[in-house]
Amino acid sequence: MAVKNAMTADFLRSAYGGECMAHMRYLTWGEVAEKEGFPNIARLFKAIAYAEQVHAGNHFNVLNGNIGDHPVTAGGVFGLKNTAENLQGGIMGEEFEVDQMYPAYLEVAKMQKEEEAVRSFTFALEAEKIHAELFKKAKEAAEQGKDFEVNKIYICPICGHTATDELPNQCPVCGAKKGIYKEF
Ligand SMILES: [Fe+2]
Ligand SMILES: [Fe+2]
Repeated sequence: MAVKNAMTADFLRSAYGGECMAHMRYLTWGEVAEKEGFPNIARLFKAIAYAEQVHAGNHFNVLNGNIGDHPVTAGGVFGLKNTAENLQGGIMGEEFEVDQMYPAYLEVAKMQKEEEAVRSFTFALEAEKIHAELFKKAKEAAEQGKDFEVNKIYICPICGHTATDELPNQCPVCGAKKGIYKEF
């Protein structure tokens, strides 16, 4: 089924672009964290990069009936610094998505009755809230020259929900079963 309204379709493409860039950026920043001796922060970046891939894939799939070539404009944080500063970049990106981008996209999708887009934007919004908090904790550690204390990191492959240490019985965002979470 195609997205009927041009504005929701534009927002899906822009969100797709933003998530793709976040995915790559986190993989790159993860490599920096690895080199700087923060293996858990490296793993956090890698896990969250996967969550952003899930979001990008969801937005892309919602557009599966809207074939065509489009220029895509999306916000992205640029720059390669040390791990604490890269985490600050991560916080900035996630907070922009949580405070401005996804709430605005979501309101338009609701107003235009684009149910699949509402679902995809909601999934992303809920995960980004968790990402912002995890990056804040990791940044506090990195600033003190310490690694982030975390055991396993789990990502829901349906919605990108991100859990640390303990796996929920089912995904609190999309209801998926515990067994399908990807472990990092
Ligand atoms: Fe995120
Ligand atoms: Fe989920």
